Amino acid sequence: MKVNITETVLRDGNQSLIATRLPISDFESILAEMDEAGYYSVECWGGATFDTCLRFLNEDPWERLRTLKKYFKKTKLQMLLRGQNLVGYKHYSDDTVRRFVTKAVENGIDIIRCFDALNDYRNIKTAVESTIKAGGHAQGVIAWTISPIHTQEKFVAMGKELESMGVHSIAVKDMAGIMGPQEAFDLISALKKSVTLPVYLHTHSTTGLAPMTYLKAVEAGCDGIDTAIASFSGGTSQPATESLVYALKQCGHETTVNMNVLKKINDYFKPVRDRFLKSGILEPVVLGTDTDALVYQVPGGMLSNLVSQLKSQNALDKLEAVLMETPKVREELGWPPLVTPMSQMVGVQAAMNVLLGERYKNVSKEVKAYVRGEYGTAPGTIDATIQSKILGDEQPITGPFADSIAPEFDSVKTELGDLAKSDEDVLSQILFPQIAEPYLRDREERRANTVTYTITRVKE
Ligand code: CO
Repeated sequence: MKVNITETVLRDGNQSLIATRLPISDFESILAEMDEAGYYSVECWGGATFDTCLRFLNEDPWERLRTLKKYFKKTKLQMLLRGQNLVGYKHYSDDTVRRFVTKAVENGIDIIRCFDALNDYRNIKTAVESTIKAGGHAQGVIAWTISPIHTQEKFVAMGKELESMGVHSIAVKDMAGIMGPQEAFDLISALKKSVTLPVYLHTHSTTGLAPMTYLKAVEAGCDGIDTAIASFSGGTSQPATESLVYALKQCGHETTVNMNVLKKINDYFKPVRDRFLKSGILEPVVLGTDTDALVYQVPGGMLSNLVSQLKSQNALDKLEAVLMETPKVREELGWPPLVTPMSQMVGVQAAMNVLLGERYKNVSKEVKAYVRGEYGTAPGTIDATIQSKILGDEQPITGPFADSIAPEFDSVKTELGDLAKSDEDVLSQILFPQIAEPYLRDREERRANTVTYTITRVKE
């Protein structure tokens, strides 16, 4: 059986190991070679790349996408989209979602992997429809998690719902890297029996399970897996592309990937990784195997956040208590998958419940918004007592929250005036107003300086 390989070094590998700090100058000269590798797709945009381009790298994310498209002539470009949150952290209006998706496809994206943290597919409906309309490949996500209510039947029902929405493929996404080989085998087998679409699997090396999980998934008929070139693999990233391709081949599963080209790509990225190690941005600890997540069943990232949060409050001795509190909070909030932003919300709430000595004495505005229904419907039932303690007399909303957001595009376009040179600029501004505007002003200034410089030269 043929297995599709998606290379993640430019997005998830980069994001998981070095907080998405790769500037395009660090990889532009290897892109032509990467196009020769025989990857099914290269995940290279979306997730945190959009934010960090503007915030830390002084790069226009749209420009980066167009540059990528210039080099990738044979390989599909793939992005990660957080449904109605796009590449940001809150819900945007439907008109913003439609325009963003259309522009992403126009500028070069082929596959849009679209997820919602709660698997509330009303939150990906507009994005999926717009992807299909724009001629892109819409991939719907099942955000995988462990909880008493997340049964195999439920995940299969999600797969069927995605199929009925018209997606072209399905990706099972294990953000925490805690899916075991048998769980993968059982779920992928069940999905392949129930839907006619290709099924992909995404996991992380965090706990060390990933290569075994991928192999069993492929044995169950999984159509493709996500891996990262060796020098950006392992730990919180994906397992190495080279090792998986090698092992799969030995087990009788073909890929279209060329090992000789992979060697060149890895040779290129090795010194890049070493520079990040030297500068301290890449912490050696994230490259290791961390099995605590298997004990506590919380993602590694959430665990390290809790540790640093408790440390800063001189309360590291409360870690065990907070970890005992976490599943209680999760149950009371209706078992949300522990993925951004839910993992942060649940973790902070559990910590506050323990540190303040009274449960739900203090509730973040995010948790309040979640209980109000602004993030969508909880997978399970939110505890009624907790709900009324948090909301008081307020009634939770039942429809999609996006329905209550007014169109944003035209007003922001007017506000920006001449500063916006394209619809893409307006979209950047809607997504990240505090950082996009300074970027656009800076770009304007740089352009003005270039013009003056050219004129002076001509006079000389
Ligand atoms: Co991931």
